[in-house]
Amino acid sequence: MPDLLQLTHIRKTFPGVIALDDVSFSIRAGEIHTLLGENGAGKSTLMNVLTGFYAPDSGGLQLDGQPVRFASPRDSLALGIGMVHQHFMLVPAHSVLENIMIALQGVPLLFSRRQQRARIEQTIEEFGLDLDLNAPVWKLSIGAQQWIELIKLLLRDCRLLILDEPTAVLTPQEAAKLFQVLLRLKQQGKCIIFISHKMREVMEISDRVTILKKGRSVTTLEKGEFDQKKLAGLMIGGDRIPEWQKSLPFSEEIVLEIENLSVRNDRGLADLDNFSLRLQKGEILGIAGNGQKALAEALTGLTRVESGRVLAAGEDITRSCARSSYIAGIAHIPEDRKAIGIVPDLSLDENLILKNFRAKCFRNGVFQSRSAIRDNAEEKIGQFAIKAGPPGSPVRLLSGGNIQKVIIARELSEQPAVLVALYPTRGLDIGSAEYVHKVIADGASNGMSTILISEDLDELYKICDRIAVIFRGRLIGYADPTSSSRAEIGLMMSGEVSA
Ligand SMILES: Nc1ncnc2c1ncn2[C@@H]1O[C@H](COP(=O)(O)OP(=O)(O)OP(=O)(O)O)[C@@H](O)[C@H]1O
Ligand SMILES: [Mg+2]
Repeated sequence: MPDLLQLTHIRKTFPGVIALDDVSFSIRAGEIHTLLGENGAGKSTLMNVLTGFYAPDSGGLQLDGQPVRFASPRDSLALGIGMVHQHFMLVPAHSVLENIMIALQGVPLLFSRRQQRARIEQTIEEFGLDLDLNAPVWKLSIGAQQWIELIKLLLRDCRLLILDEPTAVLTPQEAAKLFQVLLRLKQQGKCIIFISHKMREVMEISDRVTILKKGRSVTTLEKGEFDQKKLAGLMIGGDRIPEWQKSLPFSEEIVLEIENLSVRNDRGLADLDNFSLRLQKGEILGIAGNGQKALAEALTGLTRVESGRVLAAGEDITRSCARSSYIAGIAHIPEDRKAIGIVPDLSLDENLILKNFRAKCFRNGVFQSRSAIRDNAEEKIGQFAIKAGPPGSPVRLLSGGNIQKVIIARELSEQPAVLVALYPTRGLDIGSAEYVHKVIADGASNGMSTILISEDLDELYKICDRIAVIFRGRLIGYADPTSSSRAEIGLMMSGEVSA
């Protein structure tokens, strides 16, 4: 098969950062090519160079054997190269249909609104997707928002699709669905560049894998030449993976009590229905099943509770705001890191003190103490191995995984009594994910209790003391990771058995 696209000796620097040092690789027609590399290795930047979002400092692209230069993503899109970004680019207040239509402006095939709608519906059906065209985007889960981005590219009939960590925001079922779609596209002769930190997926879907490390392409391997271990070894190189141990049995003391909590979502349906739960001191409690997000929001003061109570250390915090839940010692790692986890335009240093900027240690009389804020940032950067850019630059310029590390570092800095963590290792590379698990386990040994919300049963099994299973907004029961099988938990999640 001839190469569709070649990238040679790409270099891209930003002020104070060498994002890409020297990267070369090629894409063949009809292949699924995975890019693998640690947080900050340069994957997203490379894709942004490929699509014309950034101009490379040096190096070149060849499409169908001809040199090309893209001045903007519009140019690459015109030649059939489309990308679903790691952080989506949708208009939240507009409907799904409107968001898709904006993207189709200038596509000549479509005339009336009715015809456009029909074509969009046909594509949704052809790929078996589940999407309500009239729903406003802000009401959709991140997974559903991603389908919109993908549909935009399908409607444009792109021949090279780039998906930057698509599965980080999908449930296992949604990811399986996505893989079906990708395999189908491959059969139609399309090329796909896939980025993921999940080795199991990489093994499942890739025809070839290219490994990036610190802005350089290390090697490209064909199917059959790699296994999970080999890939991890190449990706991590000489870096050390942190080690940790599960904490000792936790204490009897109850730190958080949820009594008959009911929460309705924006569509008026019950996300939590008479839900009760008790969290003990030093416990790591996993939550599986749906309704998890409503639970996290209720605990952190981000949603209105319909009925029921939440008690933190015996004190009623049911109707408190986000700030008072913070004062009650509840830290929160949210699902949507860019929307509510950070203030994108503030610097890394400032984002690290968002919650405790009033603290004396960061003040100098009535002024903020710049040096204390900087020292705090340096400490956190070292501790969490955050790959930071030049001081003072906005935090949104960090790589996806590094933004996640900033949030975790901030949330854990005040030694919270309770950590409510939604998908905390989403988008983290193997070493960083392990470090977050270590922080949670070490926290537990020091008496921190964690509610860990994750789609990843492997993660829940690995770190949790107990797993609470929710079905239709109710607690079905608790599973013990040391004795319950995945099948048992699966059945509980579908509401069929209770433990
Ligand atoms: N616009 C920018 N300005 C300054 N620095 C940037 C910019 N974009 C990326 N960087 C830096 O370039 C490096 C590579 O980032 P990139 O986003 O490509 O990493 P990545 O491999 O996609 O990582 P992740 O797995 O965390 O998403 C990082 O150090 C990042 O901070
Ligand atoms: Mg990235």
